[in-house]
Amino acid sequence: MSFPKIRMRRLRSSEPMRRLVRQTILSVDNFVYPLFVKEGKGLKEPIESMTDCFHFSPDTAAHEASQVAALGIPAVLIFGLPKKKDELGSQAWAHNGVVQQAVKEIKKAVPQLLVITDVCLCAYTRSGHCGVLKDNKIDNDSACELLAKIALSHAHAGADIVAPSDMMDGRVGYIRQCLEKNGFHDTAIMAYSAKYASAFYGPFRDAADSAPVFGDRKSYQMDTANSDQAMQEIALDIEEGADIVMIKPALCFLDIIHRAKHRFDCPIAAYNVSGEYMMLNAAAKAGLLDKKQAMLEMLYSIKRAGADIIITYFAREAAKLLKG
Ligand code: PBG
Repeated sequence: MSFPKIRMRRLRSSEPMRRLVRQTILSVDNFVYPLFVKEGKGLKEPIESMTDCFHFSPDTAAHEASQVAALGIPAVLIFGLPKKKDELGSQAWAHNGVVQQAVKEIKKAVPQLLVITDVCLCAYTRSGHCGVLKDNKIDNDSACELLAKIALSHAHAGADIVAPSDMMDGRVGYIRQCLEKNGFHDTAIMAYSAKYASAFYGPFRDAADSAPVFGDRKSYQMDTANSDQAMQEIALDIEEGADIVMIKPALCFLDIIHRAKHRFDCPIAAYNVSGEYMMLNAAAKAGLLDKKQAMLEMLYSIKRAGADIIITYFAREAAKLLKG
């Protein structure tokens, strides 16, 4: 008989008491803030599908990045919208492509801020797919060669971490080999390892203009009903040379984050994606819940599940809140 010897409410009786026994600590150190860049100068255009998010040009992205760094956030993740798309997505590895420009500008303005680049083809190909079409199918191995080229061009521009998000088989190995061969021994790879074919990328695809023109991504991104396959994907990426592995999206896949944390020793990142972000924003806008509290609850759940790194559009807001 434990009651009244044990009363669980004793340790919940005041905020200092709750603080004393709080198990999960959210820190700004774990946040990565995504930035969207497009060609131009002096741009800061609101993204309609994503509250408080903007399209920046490389110069204003650098300014934004310095504000992100001032909040204590250690890293940004760059997505690019090219001037023009083509069959192969060649703007993705263009020497003076928009991401390459942004990386250079940000590294110049805020050298201590880590710059992570999204390595993918979908925003650059006319098909909107993350690989190249061959006989109406997404060809795996030719995509890997292009992805390695993209990663190398980002490393040349000064990226600290490259993050392939395409879900082609073997791409981490291609990228690692290419970076090593070209002397980029210290460029880290954060692999989108367990990336699901999720409906929660909707707002992002508007923002990045990267929706597939036909079909869907189910032949390369994972079936949302699977769990064991995620472990296999992660193990393969680590074997191929990934330094950090990612699970994406976060909220519908907390079980995957938890499993991965217990199974693998490398840092686990989770991507709190655009649909998760906008679901909360829409509910808050409708007056249905308290945005700040709900945001922290979301972020705590991701951390509690086992994520070491959280990529989130809430990073700035959460950083301010955690500062108090
Ligand atoms: C590109 C990519 C996507 C996201 C990140 N990189 C979209 C997709 O796979 O269709 C989604 C991010 C988000 O929803 O916040 N491959």
